[in-house]
Amino acid sequence: MTVDAQELDNIEVELFTQAMQRRHGYDFSQYAPASLKRRVLQLVEQLETRTISGLIERVMHEPQLLPRMLDGLTVPASDMFRDPSMFRGLREQVLPLLASYPQINIWQAGCAHGQEVYSLAILLEEAGLYERTQIFATDLSERALHQAQEGIYPAREAQQWSRNYQAAGGTHSLADYYSARYNLLKLDQRLRRNVTFAQHNLVSDGVFCEAHLVLCRNVMIYFSNPLQDHVLSLFRNSLVRGGFLCVGMRESLDYATTAATFTPFDERLRIYRLTHQPERQQA
Ligand SMILES: C[S@@+](CC[C@H](N)C(=O)[O-])C[C@H]1O[C@@H](n2cnc3c(N)ncnc32)[C@H](O)[C@@H]1O
Repeated sequence: MTVDAQELDNIEVELFTQAMQRRHGYDFSQYAPASLKRRVLQLVEQLETRTISGLIERVMHEPQLLPRMLDGLTVPASDMFRDPSMFRGLREQVLPLLASYPQINIWQAGCAHGQEVYSLAILLEEAGLYERTQIFATDLSERALHQAQEGIYPAREAQQWSRNYQAAGGTHSLADYYSARYNLLKLDQRLRRNVTFAQHNLVSDGVFCEAHLVLCRNVMIYFSNPLQDHVLSLFRNSLVRGGFLCVGMRESLDYATTAATFTPFDERLRIYRLTHQPERQQA
């Protein structure tokens, strides 16, 4: 039997996925295959193993490498006020509606290094809603969560983030919310006072909280269609009726079977609203 190089990679990626699941309990089997393969091959380079099989050996026998592997597989890249028009939409269209609730719960799933969490906190602060809001910021990667809690970023990002903040309708200076030292900037830790960071795996864990707004941006893009559906049903079971869901600008609910329960609130900004809520069920 002849197996070409591509097919060999595919077999090895499958074995790698099984090793991650059986050795560490992380299930990547329903991630989109092409991008998963790309990231596994990047890990091969970063960890200087000759083949994916070499990587499997390290999965099995070097547990201390797990955080690094998870980082490589999950791409914890983010920005403050990423896609500023979406944040402007939240500020101008969504927050005024959330203001009618005495207590607001927000679930930010896939928070990576926390830039989106701090952006949200700033929006809520400026809308006078932060005091009665609880933000639950979750991610698969403990390493990413640790960085998110620290809120320290390279200062070279400041200019771009400032522009994003202004484009998102910011009325102050972004510099009011951080202190800069040497080549780092540290977000004002008061922005964290109503944030709970927690590890949560969208593949295997259940509903997280009863939420009025769920943000899960640039996460489902890495998932296969059935996994996207599973995650959307988690969000559906988590949201209150009339609650909002924001996904990334390159993501959409068009092909999801769960989509019928969401109506576009602002389709261009990928903001949806839960209109129909079936019986609450354990996801
Ligand atoms: C590209 S970042 C998106 C960050 C941020 N939401 C944004 O749009 O800027 C994707 C994040 O999703 C997280 N992630 C990937 N798979 C996940 C899963 N199964 N459960 C929870 N988080 C996951 C990764 O760890 C990573 O931090």
